[in-house]
Parts: sequence; structure tokens; C-alpha cells
Amino acid sequence: MITSSVPITIEKVKTSGVKEVNINEVPFGKVFTDHMFVADFKNGEWTNFRIIPYQNMSMSYAMSALHYGQAIFEGMKAFRQDNGNTVVFRAKDNWARLNKSAVRMAMPEIPEEVFMEGLLQLLSLDKEWAPTSENGSLYIRPLMIATEEIIGVKISNEYQFVIIAAPASVYYTQPVKVLIQNTFYRSVKGGIGYVKAAGNYGRSLYPTKLAQDKGYQQILWTDSETGKYIEEAGTMNVMFVKNNVILTPELLETLLPGITRDSILKLARKLNISTEERKVSIEEILKSIEDGSVTEVFGVGTAATIAHITAIGYEDKDYVLPPIEQRKYSSMFDKMLRDIRKGRVADEFNWLMQVK
Ligand SMILES: Cc1ncc(COP(=O)(O)O)c(C=O)c1O
Repeated sequence: MITSSVPITIEKVKTSGVKEVNINEVPFGKVFTDHMFVADFKNGEWTNFRIIPYQNMSMSYAMSALHYGQAIFEGMKAFRQDNGNTVVFRAKDNWARLNKSAVRMAMPEIPEEVFMEGLLQLLSLDKEWAPTSENGSLYIRPLMIATEEIIGVKISNEYQFVIIAAPASVYYTQPVKVLIQNTFYRSVKGGIGYVKAAGNYGRSLYPTKLAQDKGYQQILWTDSETGKYIEEAGTMNVMFVKNNVILTPELLETLLPGITRDSILKLARKLNISTEERKVSIEEILKSIEDGSVTEVFGVGTAATIAHITAIGYEDKDYVLPPIEQRKYSSMFDKMLRDIRKGRVADEFNWLMQVK
């Protein structure tokens, strides 16, 4: 029996759907677990905390989020460890980032205990959905949307906070080629690039489609002021290994401060591997790929963990990187993160939270 300071009502499914799918094989983000956590914001406070069977919502077409974009979300993962336990990775950091997004989008912050209790009780019910495979995980999607029924550009008075979860296998099934983009921009100075607002993703889809039509999986975004500096890649931050230094663009207000990025920088520093967070120009990177000083390029994010980038396209030319088998650093970080999550090594940074 779970005791909690947050009064959560629980309505369980009659029969779990977990036996009907192969949780180790499902495609990313298409199959959802039995339950979801929901909270409503009304009359200035969060209320009506509930875990219910996963279901559709009923809404008005005048719902504010659909028109004026007050919609934010998070992405995090739970893992099945070798000993059978289920753990969540860095959930507190996702909670903190969700609240940063809420502040920027003029939405109410979600109290830590509501987020954590909702999450842990949901996972406690649905933990059998966490894949047992080596690269599988339970992807967790907290989101907040403006639900007031009103036409008119204003801050909504009503919101819903929801947590849903989906078993996930690998995100990228093939190596990733990225295209440098300096015609369209993901974010601008003074904008919302540093938060996880739905609008950041909506605006990225058309340029990403253009890149995909040319055979690239993702875009490498550049800064909108000069178009000369690399910022991040689609749904990942980006890292370069240059002369054995882990180099990554510094966090400006135009970049999402990735939790995976932070984890890798912390692991590198623990191992006394040099790291640099600074401006990274297109010119520097392309030249360094050509002269062989950049030996690895990889995307880092919750969904993909580490995505090896095989080539960077710029102005109709591909700058090809050394083969994946030679990627010493990115493969090492991938293994280190997996070992922590799977419980094979000590959780020195206190990143894991146990699901009961
Ligand atoms: C735009 C963007 N950049 C970077 C990341 C990586 O962040 P994290 O490592 O916290 O998943 C994500 C994914 O959340 C993202 O959507």
C-alpha cells in the first residue's frame, strides 16, 4: 500500500494489456501502458489527482492550447535493471525543466510532490511495461496543456497535467546523417528555445522534412543571429570529439539544456576527460573533420541516448566521419550510462529513483 501526501485516486484497468504486446519490440511512442496520471488546474490550484486507465480526452475545439500554444512537455525514461527492479533516470531534473517551461509559457508550475507521487504511483502500477531488453526502456511523457474553453489571446485559467508512458526500443534504427541548416532557425534570442514548448517542435517539422527529402535524418540548427554557430540537433544536443576533448555548444537561451548532455559532461569530468562548452562554428567543425582532428560527432538526448552521426551535410557536400567501430568516447559514454541505468555499477551521482 502506497502512502502519499498527495491524495491520488486510482482506477485500475480490468485487465492489463501488457501481455498483448511484445514490449521488447514495439516501435517508439506508439503503444501506451495501462494507466495515466492526470491533474487539473482550476481556480488557481492543482486538484483532482487521479490515475485512470489510459484513454482519450474529451475537449472543446476552443481549447486554448490548440490555438495559442500553451503546451509544454518532458521526456524521460524508466529502466528495468538486471535484478528486475525498475528505476527512473534523473526525474527531478525533468520536473525542474518542466517548471522552467511553465514559467516561460505563463503556465502554473507543478509542485514537486505532485509530479513525483503521480509518476511513482503510475510506474508502480505499470512497471511490468518496462522492457527487459538491453536497449529497451519505458519512455515517460509528462505534459501540460491549457484547457480553458475560450477564443482570445490570453493566459488560460485552466490546465491539465498528464503523465503517459510507452515501452520503447531504439529510437534511431540506422546511423544518423545530419544537415546543417542556416536558412530556417529553431529559436531566437529572447525566444523559447531553452524550454520544451510544443511550438519549438511544430516550427522544426518543415525544415526537417526538407532535410529528410535529401536523405538526412536530422538537422543541425545554427544560431539565428549569424547562422555561423552550431546549436543543437533536432531532438538532441550535439557533441564533438576534437583532439580527445569533448566539445559541445555552450548553453544559451536558444538551446535546450539537455539532461543527457549534462550527464555525459559529468561522466567525462569524473574520468578527467577534458570538456569544452563554448561557441562551435560550422567552419571549425567542417575543417576539423577534413583535417582529422574531429573524430566523433554524436547526438545526445533521452530518446536516442547516444546517436552516432556518420556525416554532416553542408551546401551540397557531405563531411564524412570515421566509422562507428572507431568511436571510443561516444561508445564508452553509451556503455557507462547503460551500466548505471541497468544497475551494473554504483549510481554515484544519485541519478536513479526506485519504483516500488
Ligand atoms: C530540442 C531538444 N534538444 C535536446 C534534447 C535532449 O534533452 P534531454 O537529454 O534532456 O532529453 C531534446 C530532448 O528532450 C530536445 O527536444
